[in-house]
Amino acid sequence: MTDPSSLRVAMIGHAFMGNAHSQAWRTAPHFFDLPLRPEMAVLVGHDTDRAAQAAARLGWAESSADWREVIARDDVDLVDICTPGDTHAEIAVAALRAGKHVLCEKPLANTVAEAEEMTTAAEEARAHGVRAMVGFTYRRVPAIGLARALVEDGRIGDVRHVRAQYLQDWIADPEAPLSWRLDRSRAGSGALGDIGAHIVDLTQYVTGDRITELAGRLETFVKERPYAAGDTAGSLGGGGTTTERGPVTVDDAASFLATFSSGAMGVFEATRFATGRKNAIRIEVNGSLGSLAFDFEDMNVLQYFDAREDAEHAGFRRILATEAGHPYVAAWWPPGHGLGYEHGFTHQVVDLVNAIAAGEDPVPSFADGLQVQRVLAAVETSSDTRTWQEIPR
Ligand SMILES: NC(=O)c1ccc[n+]([C@@H]2O[C@H](COP(=O)([O-])OP(=O)(O)OC[C@H]3O[C@@H](n4cnc5c(N)ncnc54)[C@H](O)[C@@H]3O)[C@@H](O)[C@H]2O)c1
Repeated sequence: MTDPSSLRVAMIGHAFMGNAHSQAWRTAPHFFDLPLRPEMAVLVGHDTDRAAQAAARLGWAESSADWREVIARDDVDLVDICTPGDTHAEIAVAALRAGKHVLCEKPLANTVAEAEEMTTAAEEARAHGVRAMVGFTYRRVPAIGLARALVEDGRIGDVRHVRAQYLQDWIADPEAPLSWRLDRSRAGSGALGDIGAHIVDLTQYVTGDRITELAGRLETFVKERPYAAGDTAGSLGGGGTTTERGPVTVDDAASFLATFSSGAMGVFEATRFATGRKNAIRIEVNGSLGSLAFDFEDMNVLQYFDAREDAEHAGFRRILATEAGHPYVAAWWPPGHGLGYEHGFTHQVVDLVNAIAAGEDPVPSFADGLQVQRVLAAVETSSDTRTWQEIPR
């Protein structure tokens, strides 16, 4: 029997997202008043020794190299999936069927079919009080929460334009090595699913609207790359040093035009080739009464333009979203003492724990993740066929 006041967490994967999620689980109960006490119970990896070392470093009580065995344990309440996309469906469905709450990293899956299976499993588990959430973390940035609140309050009126970019440059160098992110069988897609998924979720969240149709284009600029030291064909993760090159099987960049159900027009761009841009998530929304603009490289700021002000004094206002009244901020530092990348993950954990304790469905749900997956698939089909695609409801 587990203690009803605690939430025993097992996390799978201990690299980039594993670090970020560990930080969140460690920090959340110290800054937020949580109705359940998260316990960092088990960390799962591929390899027994590496998982044990990571568990000691990141603060997990135990470690394992077998996620199936961990999911079967009675003393695990929640499974946090921080592995590449090709594993999400299998782990999430097994965990939900075993009665564990699930937090799954984005994109929800590698295909629409997998995302549908996961959503069905989540809906079945929900009938037994089991909750599932997908990790579109950037929703939890206070300036983004403020943008959502301003749209909801009608402060920018009817939305006409949505402009969204997610710009990175980490593989602009053609000699940057292959990794699972460049392998379609592991990642599902490239810039489209890795970072494009975030701006699909973010714009739909901020506007409270859904994309209904789109026309897109994908491009792979560098079609072959060297294997990383230690990797060979078919084993992006082990083996000896090689000078062999292998194919890039995903997109390097994606762009698409979209229509929202309100009739708003959207322009989206996701690329790993925007030299000089490291993690520039840029959202601009123009409405009948004003505009909002956000750039993650200046993540504590939201720009707001009120078109009702007289023309002589109107202009974009730079709102520093660090006031206690802004979402999540009251738990942290005094005004002006900004938050960083990791705080979004802490807020994600806080929202999830609160929803579980309240017996409510956390958002974004797996159904939300499935809808994003349908948008991603439509971009691929549109790019292949050079046609507009409707997004099924
Ligand atoms: N929310 C965000 O902003 C954000 C940012 C980056 C990545 N992600 C997502 O997080 C997920 C993981 O990405 P990452 O950057 O952390 O990848 P990563 O390569 O840094 O880490 C992947 C981890 O998964 C482990 N792993 C893989 N298969 C496993 C298995 N079968 N059993 C146990 N462990 C296994 C690896 O050993 C490694 O520890 C992806 O879905 C990615 O899209 C989300």
